Formats: sequence, structure tokens, C-alpha cells
Amino acid sequence: MEEGVRSSLSSDEERSGVVVARLSEIPDEGLLEVEATIDGVAESLILHRVGAEVRAWLNVCPHAGRRLDWAPGKFLRSKDGLLICAAHGASFELGRGQCVAGPCRGDALRMVAVEVVGEDVVANVTRSLSSDPSGAP
Ligand code: FES
Repeated sequence: MEEGVRSSLSSDEERSGVVVARLSEIPDEGLLEVEATIDGVAESLILHRVGAEVRAWLNVCPHAGRRLDWAPGKFLRSKDGLLICAAHGASFELGRGQCVAGPCRGDALRMVAVEVVGEDVVANVTRSLSSDPSGAP
């Protein structure tokens, strides 16, 4: 059986799974930054692991659209585990990516659907077949 999710959305789109990391690459309760192509656009993602579960968000702060890390893959965390944007200090809880303090309080990081399949962390992305006629994954 093929890993990941693949189903037809319309004649020119399909939803497919892209392996973005191995579960073992993400420290438990920790973060990992990865690059992935989402809807044909190269994006930086923040992966957060809690045991066997992984959540993911775009590495884009809702305040001013900056990356949250101070250097690629280097994130600030508060003593109580909040993710802190390196640009202006907005603080995000890592359950739903909600901003709980700072200039974008009440906003949230944009979640990316991921699932753990065996040892792989798979992002579910929509791919336009018309922009990739080869259909290659
Ligand atoms: S861009 Fe993140 S707090 Fe301003």
C-alpha cells in the first residue's frame, strides 16, 4: 500500500503527501524547521513534536510576515515553552499556534496538515497538475 494520502480533488488538482522529515529528527517537545513545496511554493515550515504527534505551521509570523527563527532553524522559546518570534517578540502557544502575547495577540500561525506515517512526517499538500505535467512527486 502506498504511504501518504492521494486522492482526486478535480481534473487538474490532486492532494498528495510529501515526506518533510523523519519523526526521529524532531526532538520530543522540540521544534524543527524544514523546507517544503506547498501548492507549488517553497515554504519554510515549523514542525513541533509531542511524543508520536507532530504539528506544523508556516514559518511566517502573522504580525509582519517575518520568519519566526532568528537564524534558519534557531527558535526562541520561553521558560514555559512558548515560541517567540525573533522579530518583535510575539509569543505563540504550540497547541494551535495561537498568539498569546505581543503585537499580534489573538492571531494564529497558519497550520499545515501533517500526519505521522510510520517514521515519516507527511505534509498533505494540494498540487496543481497543470503546473507539473510530468505528475512526478
Ligand atoms: S513579525 Fe513576528 S512579532 Fe513582528
